[in-house]
Amino acid sequence: MDRFVIEGPVRLAGEVTVSGAKNAALPCLAAALLTADAVRLENLPDVADIRTLGKLLQQVGAEVVRDRRCAAIEARTIGSADAPYDLVKTMRASVLVLGPLLARVGEVRVSLPGGCAIGVRPINLHLAAFEKLGAEVRLEHGYVEARAARLKGADVAFDTVTVTGTENVMLAATLARGTTRLRNAAREPEVVDLARLLIAMGARIEGAGTDTIVIEGVETLHGADHAVIPDRIEAGTYAVAAAATRGDVRIARCAPEHLGALVARLRATGASVESEGDVLRVRADGPLLSHDVATAPYPGFPTDLQAQWMALATGLDGIATITETIFENRFQHVAELVRMGANIRLEGRWAVVEGPSRLTGARVMASDLRASAALVLAALAAEGETTIERVYHLDRGYQRMEEKLRALGARVRRVS
Ligand code: EPU
Repeated sequence: MDRFVIEGPVRLAGEVTVSGAKNAALPCLAAALLTADAVRLENLPDVADIRTLGKLLQQVGAEVVRDRRCAAIEARTIGSADAPYDLVKTMRASVLVLGPLLARVGEVRVSLPGGCAIGVRPINLHLAAFEKLGAEVRLEHGYVEARAARLKGADVAFDTVTVTGTENVMLAATLARGTTRLRNAAREPEVVDLARLLIAMGARIEGAGTDTIVIEGVETLHGADHAVIPDRIEAGTYAVAAAATRGDVRIARCAPEHLGALVARLRATGASVESEGDVLRVRADGPLLSHDVATAPYPGFPTDLQAQWMALATGLDGIATITETIFENRFQHVAELVRMGANIRLEGRWAVVEGPSRLTGARVMASDLRASAALVLAALAAEGETTIERVYHLDRGYQRMEEKLRALGARVRRVS
């Protein structure tokens, strides 16, 4: 297992280029199962989760030709519509093959993902929606089995905003007979990106990006070429890193319009944030002010940046609460940040952070993707050497983070 050894403190400066969005690329890869034609995706991030889903697509019979940032997927026939536990347990987003396979072959068997480091994360809302579309859904031996001769359009209202739930049902409904209306749909840019690809494949979808998405089912879909949007969470992570290290970083090839909530919070600390085209420049110097942050579905503050924000908040002046409203257990970074000298108290879904603290390097353990990123940010700001164990979590979603950080002046080594 690799670990990072980081020597701090450092003031990050320079330019970093953002990769394609992992959470947009995943549903786009799954979409390729809806057609026998080739789907070509560009701007894919070179991260472990993308490789895992690629393996799963191959396992069900698709041909996947991958070159660093691009992939061509051709699912001429589906051999077996079966997603086994071994693959699904390493990446929950594997459940995104449920919708496409159900729509394409009328029968699918996918392992239930189980809980993970950030919460229970059920998929009950995906399944209830498939039932509404006329599928027969059974849970047996840890697997979801779903069947439907042909799905039928229906009205689906999600109780909770669910990103992959919205995507999964949108994928399925493209080939259903009739109209599907998704209410309380997720408005994330990744949902919009998937809709763009599906429309290019011949799907009829309106309203992506709003809370009501209407999908008019079609008989077949065809191939398409699609460039995945930039990763707003990766961009946000470097933006927060710039502020946390009182640096000056230009974040290139990003979509500043997807980062509104973060930019507002960063400005409220006193950091300077400017955007020009696809570049976001974050600069900070001296003391910055703390203030409360609460996560919310898009366009609110992303839960995927909560841990990184907490690393920043340890160095801000004042007491502030960070409220996690999306996942019940996404505070595993807190204990590790406290080991580095942070002053954080947990009260249910609230973390009360009192700063500024003088962080010092320590040996810490990464527990999930974004918690790992938070530890990296804390290590960059801390005095002395930090060793972060289990960076395989980080590799799931950040493309060569140590190289990107080194180019900004960080002293980071990967040790195998
Ligand atoms: N939920 C249910 N039932 C469901 C689905 C969701 O109760 O059937 C609950 C969840 O337990 C959670 C809330 O609804 O409390 C929102 O979960 P959502 O379904 O939106 O999360 P997700 O689709 O599983 C995606 C991202 C996550 C990101 C969340 C929230 C992908 C592949 N994953 O997960 O990304 O945190 O949306 O924005 O798109 C990450 O990249 O680190 C990551 C965890």
